[in-house]
Amino acid sequence: MVGHSEGMREIFSTITRVAPTRATVLLCGESGVGKDMIARAIHHHSPRADRPFVKINCTALPENLMESELFGYEKGAFTGANTSKPGKFEQADTGTVFLDEIGDVPASVQVKLLRILQEREFERLGSNKVKHIDVRVLAATNVDLRAALEQGTFREDLYYRLNVLPINIPPLRERKEDIPYLAGFFVKKLGKDLGSPVQSISDAAMQRLLGYHWPGNVRELENVLERSMVLANGAILEAGDVKLDTAPAARFTVADNFLPEGTTLDQYEQSIIREALRRANGNKSQAARMLGLTRNALRYRLSQMGLES
Ligand SMILES: Nc1ncnc2c1ncn2[C@@H]1O[C@H](COP(=O)(O)OP(=O)(O)O)[C@@H](O)[C@H]1O
Ligand SMILES: [Mg+2]
Repeated sequence: MVGHSEGMREIFSTITRVAPTRATVLLCGESGVGKDMIARAIHHHSPRADRPFVKINCTALPENLMESELFGYEKGAFTGANTSKPGKFEQADTGTVFLDEIGDVPASVQVKLLRILQEREFERLGSNKVKHIDVRVLAATNVDLRAALEQGTFREDLYYRLNVLPINIPPLRERKEDIPYLAGFFVKKLGKDLGSPVQSISDAAMQRLLGYHWPGNVRELENVLERSMVLANGAILEAGDVKLDTAPAARFTVADNFLPEGTTLDQYEQSIIREALRRANGNKSQAARMLGLTRNALRYRLSQMGLES
């Protein structure tokens, strides 16, 4: 992992201190800042390194499948359950579970996670036999869970259990000192993977990388360098070779974007939510991401609007 900024060096030292323990860690940060990478680093520097690391993407699972995926089920638990099957937690026994996008976990599953964190026990669906497991839990979120707490879509007791050791990973635009080191690291790595002639980055090209705001963080930096290197011809990546995603975004100011004439804040918020759903083709998880909300927080607003089925 590359990082020379004060923020990242602090995170590295936290990783070194928490990795050997079984403490629950909550990784907070925008998409692309390195949450997955840090979760894996914690696991690999823990006494569980040679035990399973099981990642669960809470957004990817529809609510009705999530329970059976996480906790497993017994034969006959529901129509189509022809055999019994262990869940992800059982697969991770003696190892680490990484719950990604924890803010998207529905209320029914939040209760069961709380029980796992408190008692290290659960039951498979369709069974009343209590199972005990030994798992270390790591979780990640790219939205502010406190907002979900205030809206009542995320349980407070679960939040405090998860938030034992929070690690906040700053966005790349707040640690620009890391950009030259990350860029150098990716040029080397991608040069090999792509068979590209590019060996280094010119000063002018570096200035372009430093001037950009990186909404997609380290992941976007890696993608931009890959695209730029595929198209470049020389051994040195020049400013003109740098293919950024867009022009730097204009900063939002309330002065020129105040409420449209005759609209209330509620109406305006609702029209933005409708537009996000339209752009996401009705996909609530995607719409929630566009709005910087958890899926549950969006659901809550939709129910307030009388739109949640
Ligand atoms: N500090 C870092 N050093 C090297 N590569 C990094 C670093 N942070 C992120 N990356 C790379 O950036 C990409 C996005 O990181 P990831 O951990 O998936 O972010 P997140 O889970 O926060 O969305 C990955 O390819 C990862 O390897
Ligand atoms: Mg991730």
